[in-house]
Amino acid sequence: MHRPDELRRLVEARLGKLAFSPDLGALEEALRYSLLAGGKRIRPVLCLAAGEALGRRPDELVDAACALELVHTFSLVHDDLPALDDDDLRRGRPSAHVRFGEDVAILAGDALLTEAFRLALAYPAPDVARVLADATLGMIGGQYLDVTTNGGLDADGLAELHALKTGRLIRASVLAATAVAGLGEAEREPWAALGAELGLLFQIVDDLLDATATTEELGKTAGKDEASGKVTYVSLHGLERARALADETRARVEDRLAALPVDTTVLAELAGSIRDRRA
Ligand code: IPE
Ligand code: IPE
Ligand code: MG
Ligand code: MG
Ligand code: MG
Repeated sequence: MHRPDELRRLVEARLGKLAFSPDLGALEEALRYSLLAGGKRIRPVLCLAAGEALGRRPDELVDAACALELVHTFSLVHDDLPALDDDDLRRGRPSAHVRFGEDVAILAGDALLTEAFRLALAYPAPDVARVLADATLGMIGGQYLDVTTNGGLDADGLAELHALKTGRLIRASVLAATAVAGLGEAEREPWAALGAELGLLFQIVDDLLDATATTEELGKTAGKDEASGKVTYVSLHGLERARALADETRARVEDRLAALPVDTTVLAELAGSIRDRRA
């Protein structure tokens, strides 16, 4: 089995066993509904792969990896709400608010976010939680731009929006590994740059897939960006140029990987799957 698939299994097993606060009562069902619905687990797998490249075992990082997936799932639950993207389908099933109602979905998102910080705070290194907090705030700032800038973005503005709403959490997946591995500020810099490029690549491909893949393939509504008038890499640059920009971003990822002083075989495989994915 490929190493990314093995790491994904590890993440899946740990996510399934997470114990949430008993104070949540039956709300827990809504958390598990959105979390255990077969996401691709790109962020936690990236975190474990970066950790391994830095000589850390997956079990040292798996809780940080799950924390990233919890924040990500929170962002999806809220992103789908009628007040934001108003999406009825997520991870191949009815979105949380369709299944449980808006009130419960909002609370489930709040709880997923808070459970994420409980996991991150259990690390002796305080910068694991700090990395997660900074990235979550970046993602929220990006979502704010996404819902408030109606068409008024140029290429740089859109790249910045993508860097925030998606890039920051993917960058944090790499940075959490560097935090657990105890890297200093300067040593983290090339890893942060790699994570940022991977995050941008991920969202450009998300924009491409929205325009080119089917709802069945995606497990979420295809063609939603155009229907709701979102500015995306496809709407701004056109399909052909958006594909070229994805390939240019991928090439910068390769350069970043080549410059790291570690074995990056697994990370390179992940980068390839982020560019070539169909879901
Ligand atoms: C979708 O993320 C939202 C974005 C930030 C682009 P993913 O494509 O990683 O969604 P899942 O986790 O696999 O469902
Ligand atoms: C999502 O961007 C970014 C998040 C922080 C969730 P999108 O709105 O493009 O994500 P999808 O396409 O609904 O998954
Ligand atoms: Mg959105
Ligand atoms: Mg959306
Ligand atoms: Mg999208």
